Amino acid sequence: MCGIVGYVGPRQASGVLIGGLTRLEYRGYDSAGIAIMSHTGLEVVRRFGKLVNLASAIGETPVPGTIGIGHTRWATHGRPSEENAHPHIDCTGRIAVVHNGIIENYMDLREELSATGHMLRSETDTEVVAHLVESYYDGDLTAAVSRAIKRLDGSYALGIVHLDHPETLVAARKDSPLIIGIGEGENVVASDIPAVLEYTREVLVLHDDEVATVHADSVHVQALDGTDVSDPEMMHVEWDLDAAEKGGYEDFMFKEIFEQPKAIRETLRGRMCEGGDIQLSELDMAPEQVALINRVFIIACGTSFHAGMVAKTLIEGWARIPVEVEVSSEFRYSDPIVDDDTLVVAITQSGETADTLAGVREARDRGAKVIAITNVVGSRVTRESDGVIYTHAGPEIGVAATKTFTAQIAALYVLALKLAQAKGTVQQERIEHLWSELSRMPDLVETILEDLDGLKECADEYVGANSSLFLGRGIGVPIAMEGALKLKEISYIHAEAYPAGEMKHGPIALITEEVPVVVIATQGHTYEKVVSNIQEVRARGAQVIAVATHGDDDIRRHAEHVLYVPATTESLSAIPATIPLQLLSYYIAKARGCNVDQPRNLAKSVTVE
Ligand code: M6R
Repeated sequence: MCGIVGYVGPRQASGVLIGGLTRLEYRGYDSAGIAIMSHTGLEVVRRFGKLVNLASAIGETPVPGTIGIGHTRWATHGRPSEENAHPHIDCTGRIAVVHNGIIENYMDLREELSATGHMLRSETDTEVVAHLVESYYDGDLTAAVSRAIKRLDGSYALGIVHLDHPETLVAARKDSPLIIGIGEGENVVASDIPAVLEYTREVLVLHDDEVATVHADSVHVQALDGTDVSDPEMMHVEWDLDAAEKGGYEDFMFKEIFEQPKAIRETLRGRMCEGGDIQLSELDMAPEQVALINRVFIIACGTSFHAGMVAKTLIEGWARIPVEVEVSSEFRYSDPIVDDDTLVVAITQSGETADTLAGVREARDRGAKVIAITNVVGSRVTRESDGVIYTHAGPEIGVAATKTFTAQIAALYVLALKLAQAKGTVQQERIEHLWSELSRMPDLVETILEDLDGLKECADEYVGANSSLFLGRGIGVPIAMEGALKLKEISYIHAEAYPAGEMKHGPIALITEEVPVVVIATQGHTYEKVVSNIQEVRARGAQVIAVATHGDDDIRRHAEHVLYVPATTESLSAIPATIPLQLLSYYIAKARGCNVDQPRNLAKSVTVE
């Protein structure tokens, strides 16, 4: 996720910007840059890679000046490179812009701006902002920024400077965080609190569709229509630096669980056209080509493999294409039946998992088209695949995958709907209904995250467990598997997942009063069967924790604990059902004193076979 820092005040801006960006390093980035208003003009310095590269360039050729903007870039549009690093400038070189977020309509804007003579130099969505401000500028920078951002679809936090206004920084936001640290005779704009703590603990929180005009001794906030915001939200920050990096949450994992509504929203953004077409140009296939796909192979490891299993249910159910899901380390040595009518989908949040990369090469050698689903722009899988669908979850720092999993499922929903639409296997009306349900997903997740009391109580009861069982049916099977993986990897409690109907073929022998059984019992066509399976384990003394749908009061008769999730279509229930399982694992692991962000023996990306 990109980091923004802007400074106006008496100090040398370059030092404040580099210091602030260093405090935002935890967010992850691939390149960095600053723009300073110096006495010679607008100086822009950008470097690929770590901040140390930028700092040493500035060390060799200092950039004096007391107002500037800085940025660490986590690539979303355009590969990680110096050319794509921010700040971006307009044609005149007098306006500089840093941006965090995604501008959905940037292609249309690029075309429009190019047609009117603007020279765009990067592959980014951000650069259009500099040129739009240039085209609207008539002496009033704040007004030009307001007009420009009215043209943007998508999300943004922006910091903008113009040489004509050597004492002004303009900041604006929509759906991406931006705050302003209010100092004594100086102000610091930033995408997150750690960047301002060295200077102040008084913070102005900019809201969506607000534009701030920042000077050393004043901040003036306006709405987009130019009216004053007389009482902007202020907060006094009590957190220390460590807590601030985690946004006040105790751990990165917990923070990332709470970032899921945003991750899902960003991943779905721009995927539905006005005419009802699912937008997935990354597939780069005409409907006639899609019609020829007779098989889908999904390869992935760990949590990504579970996302693949969810996708199997969706693609088979909606697009009626047979899907095989294979663990990458098995696929690569299995002599797979893959040919040029096979679509291979490689799911890997890091884009660097060695086994998945080997699987991608194997599949392409056999003639298959490979589409990667990843969270990291420029990662190896993006260079080795025929097409890439990005999840927009932002960097995930906790080793246990949480927000990248639900973002992967969101991307896979889009892929499955696209395949169904291209094949004509689902009526347009139903596609639009599914899409509107899918669009509610971020809000549904938010409602789950708002009420955690029952979860904590439930977790407290099972802190001492040594072994556990997770059961589900249909789309609930991969969710049970993911729940079990989360619990075992962060709490070190043994956890096994089974299709609920398989239980009596062996695992039921494990049931005792000491083995909690977590059951995915959300509404669906096998609900009654799941309830029967619950009765079977309870008859053998098991304590049952059921994940069920709001309104299902009856389930309380069958379970010691019920973790409710909002109702949705059965095929879309994977995301809501996942959230309480992540939280249950989290609370149990915390109560056991485990390091949830860095569980023992695990690495965030597994780059060896
Ligand atoms: O980066 P990838 O998605 O390819 O990683 C695959 C697995 O190593 C990963 O999902 C792992 O299982 C999770 N960190 C577990 O939470």
